[in-house]
This record gives sequence, C-alpha cells and structure tokens, in this order.
Amino acid sequence: MSLVIAVDGPAASGKGTVARGLARHYGLPHLDTGKLYRAVALSLLRWGGDPDSEFAALRAVHEISGLMDDPELKSETVGGIASRISAYPAVRAALLERQREFAGQPGGAVLDGRDIGTVIAPQATAKLFVTAAVEERAKRRHAELTAAGLPVHLEDVLIDLRARDERDSHRSAAPLVMADDALLLETTTMGPDEALAEAIRLVESRR
Ligand code: C5P
Repeated sequence: MSLVIAVDGPAASGKGTVARGLARHYGLPHLDTGKLYRAVALSLLRWGGDPDSEFAALRAVHEISGLMDDPELKSETVGGIASRISAYPAVRAALLERQREFAGQPGGAVLDGRDIGTVIAPQATAKLFVTAAVEERAKRRHAELTAAGLPVHLEDVLIDLRARDERDSHRSAAPLVMADDALLLETTTMGPDEALAEAIRLVESRR
C-alpha cells in the first residue's frame, strides 16, 4: 500500500531532519519542497530579476533545473527571497504539478514544506506539523549556517525567522497553517533522534 507522508512547519523547526529520517526509515523517496522555492529565488538573484515582480519570478521558475544542489540555496539571502516569491500564486501554480507527481509515486513518498498536507497532498496517509519555539529555531539555524561557513549574528537570524513566519503564515496563497487532520510534533526540547522516534510513532498511529 502506498504511504504518503506530509511534513509541514515553519523554518528551522526540524521538519527537514524529520522528513529525511522518515524517508530513510520507510525506504521512501523524499522531496524538500523549500528547495524548489529557494532555487527560484537563486535563479532570480543570479539573473538580476526583480523579486517584487511576479512575472520575473514566474520566468525564474523555468530556470531552476541546474540549481537544485547549489550550496548557495542554503543562504539566508536566498531563503528570504524564497519566502517573498513563494507568496505569488503564479509561482506556486507553476511548481504544483511536479510536487503532486512526486507525491503520487507508486509506493509513496515523503514531502516537506509549508502546504503539503493542505494543498499538495491532502490525501496523505499521515500529516505531521513540526514546530518549535522561534528562539530555539534561531539557535539551530544559526548553528547550521555557522557550520556551513556562512557566519551570521544570532540576533539577525531571529529577526529574519520572525519576518519569515509572519509572511509565510499571513499570505493569501497557501499560507502556513496546520491541516485539520495533521498531528502536532513540538520539537523545542527534543534532539533529532527523539523527534524522529516520535514522528515514526505518529505516522504508525495513522497507518
Ligand atoms: O523550508 P525552507 O526554509 O527551505 O523554504 C524556503 C521558503 O519557501 C519558505 O520561507 C516558504 O516561504 C517557501 N515555501 C513555501 N511552500 C513550501 C515550501 C517552502 O511557500 N511548500
């Protein structure tokens, strides 16, 4: 039977780690959908397109194929632009089909993002909403960026995350909201192993 797992949540909540762990545990393919929006942002940045233009952002969607593994995808600059261009309905619509196809693979898949359980795969077997206190998320993102050789101030990361939460949650196109049938996974005081164990327990409760 096909097992589709939707993992949604705000930036640096641990959803990526949980999604990768679940994919490994169940032997399923995994798609980090944030990477799609980040690749659009990076393409726009490299080509000098205006992030305030929906038309420019839509053009950038068609140039992302070579960028999916670019190390610059992780940067805060790219993440910030990704959050802005992801509010455009035309950009979301242009990225919808490939995400739905991924979710529809025989056997199933794990996808993580903001709107997987609500828009991309409303039929998912299990939906997890992963979250953590914003201060803890800022610490994690700060450590990640420092380790990747992209030093930033913790305070700036916190300001940036708050702005991103606000934009992602209040946009009209596919805002970050917990699906009615999603299960909450609060990771503030959990390490990655504990979060994964809890995620597996939650998925099993829906199979
Ligand atoms: O998850 P990540 O931080 O990599 O995502 C970058 C940005 O892409 C987010 O801030 C969000 O605005 C957007 N995004 C989205 N829908 C998704 C995944 C990401 O709008 N499914």
